[in-house]
Amino acid sequence: MTVVGVDGVLRPLGDETEGLALRRLLAEAGLTLEGFDAIDGPLLVVVLGGEVVGGAAVERWGAAGLLRSVVVAEPLRGRGVGSLLVGAAIEAARAAGLDELYLLTETADDWFPRFGFAPVAREDLPAALGGSAELRGACPESAMAMRLALTRGA
Ligand SMILES: CC(C)(COP(=O)(O)OP(=O)(O)OC[C@H]1O[C@@H](n2cnc3c(N)ncnc32)[C@H](O)[C@@H]1OP(=O)(O)O)[C@@H](O)C(=O)NCCC(=O)NCCS
Repeated sequence: MTVVGVDGVLRPLGDETEGLALRRLLAEAGLTLEGFDAIDGPLLVVVLGGEVVGGAAVERWGAAGLLRSVVVAEPLRGRGVGSLLVGAAIEAARAAGLDELYLLTETADDWFPRFGFAPVAREDLPAALGGSAELRGACPESAMAMRLALTRGA
């Protein structure tokens, strides 16, 4: 658990109420909810003053992960919450034994490189990722695919 500010914490998603709050944030940000219920990897939230104000999740597809649903409540953007979430999701993916992490983004391809992600061609995505709702059409073809190696040699 990481303390954020006076009463804020970064931790795994809690109860269903938090799940609903995170879904609301994602919807408000225009991010897809398709496949959200099937996320089987780390799902982290930042809770401030009892409110879910951000989230990030990793889907597991064999040795590859798909980072998705990265969101911060609009009034709190620009204060490092998103970076905290992405850094923690990367560490959680590594701790879960994943070799590499992918993502699709339409809005933040200039942001993810600061965490080490680099663009990758769609045809170079691992076949296993094809099971993800994002790859099955929830994200448009125009979304940029990006990759981060989590282990040496990956
Ligand atoms: C993208 C998002 C998660 C960033 O969260 P955040 O808490 O504002 O990010 P941080 O405060 O950690 O980082 C702020 C820095 O990132 C930059 N940044 C934030 N969003 C960016 C974006 N979409 N593209 C490029 N740079 C971005 C800011 O300009 C700022 O730069 P600086 O450090 O040079 O001043 C947040 O803007 C958001 O929820 N957006 C809507 C949903 C979304 O697009 N999710 C990502 C796609 S999956």
